[in-house]
Amino acid sequence: MSTDLIPPHGGELINRLATPEEKQNFIAKADSLPRVQLDKRATSDLVMIAIGGFSPINGFMGQQDYLGVVKDMRLANGLPWSVPVTLSVTAEVAEPLTLGSLIRLDNPEGKFIGVLELTEKYSYDKELEAENVYRTKEDKHPGVKVVYDQGEINLAGSVWLLEREAHPQFPDYQIDPAASRDLFQERGWKTVVGFQTRNPIHRAHEYIIKCALEIVDGLFLHPLVGATKSDDIPADVRMRCYEIMMENYFPQDRVILAINPSAMRYAGPREAIFHALIRKNYGCTHFIVGRDHAGVGDYYGTYDAQEIFGQFKPEELGIAPLKFEHAFYCTRTEQMATAKTSPATKEERIHLSGTKVRAMLREGKTPPPQFSRPKVAEELAKAMKVD
Ligand code: ADX
Repeated sequence: MSTDLIPPHGGELINRLATPEEKQNFIAKADSLPRVQLDKRATSDLVMIAIGGFSPINGFMGQQDYLGVVKDMRLANGLPWSVPVTLSVTAEVAEPLTLGSLIRLDNPEGKFIGVLELTEKYSYDKELEAENVYRTKEDKHPGVKVVYDQGEINLAGSVWLLEREAHPQFPDYQIDPAASRDLFQERGWKTVVGFQTRNPIHRAHEYIIKCALEIVDGLFLHPLVGATKSDDIPADVRMRCYEIMMENYFPQDRVILAINPSAMRYAGPREAIFHALIRKNYGCTHFIVGRDHAGVGDYYGTYDAQEIFGQFKPEELGIAPLKFEHAFYCTRTEQMATAKTSPATKEERIHLSGTKVRAMLREGKTPPPQFSRPKVAEELAKAMKVD
């Protein structure tokens, strides 16, 4: 690996893909191993661990790491980490499992996909996790609801993924951290900004992306395609929108489109740190944090996800946040702007957001050109049409 690239979090890119021998060995034992079924989030977490997206984490978190993360946003070794990566099961499932044994991990469809070497089983305080990680104990919050609904025992230990399968929907955009690092190097990019998104691309996204592109060598357009809440726009529709942007409106030699397989937590500020560390592992030096990053409802202040970066020394995180103010379409200057670049009065600002675009689509309306590029709006209207 070249010294030019930013090191992964913790210094080493984790690889927990089973070797062919390990895989064969696990398959031979499969029927005799106790079995735990993963939900969608744990399945994508397993993949993220295996491909190094969650480096330095190499398995589901033990109690010391878990409590350090929940209480102080640090792993037991002191490294910043903001969101628990845990495998929760019911007490009945946990009870017969013995420490030191191998556990077979099945995906939600019942397919054998990985193995956990069980080193710990521990109970945990769901309300503490909710309050510290999500800043609310309300089960209306989709991330908190997941915590409340999951089992009361966490299983911990190193994992192996049996095989890195091609993504069923977006195989061409599956670029794992080792590969993205190689790509950045091939292109000679020294500075790369990562862009997280879970919404169809709108004008505010494009504005902040392009402002960022003015100051770095390349952009890693990295939409999340793991589990999202049910009213978010499906990943295939969103991907078609990014493709339209790539084909028509982005300089292709300066932008790489790739999928982020992980699940949304909607943890706002905590998730902004998590998202940044993931992109550091993919080789990004910078990360875009705009308004209410990874937020949901009114749980977080507009810039909470930016302010949280102040709780760490820049060198501890290693990846630099690029912070953007709330962008809007300005009717006076007839372009996208923020309060930093336009003198627009309140009345001259057309604010847009993923939530508003979703609401318009639900009502059968096509988002106006101030919201979305017409080609993107057309695609969205077509895909979201309710018959
Ligand atoms: S997120 O949950 O993945 O953060 P979304 O896809 O809406 O949601 O946002 C992607 C990125 O764009 C985030 O950094 C977010 O803060 C930023 N963003 C979205 N809308 C705006 C806006 N109107 N102004 C500034 N930044 C924005």
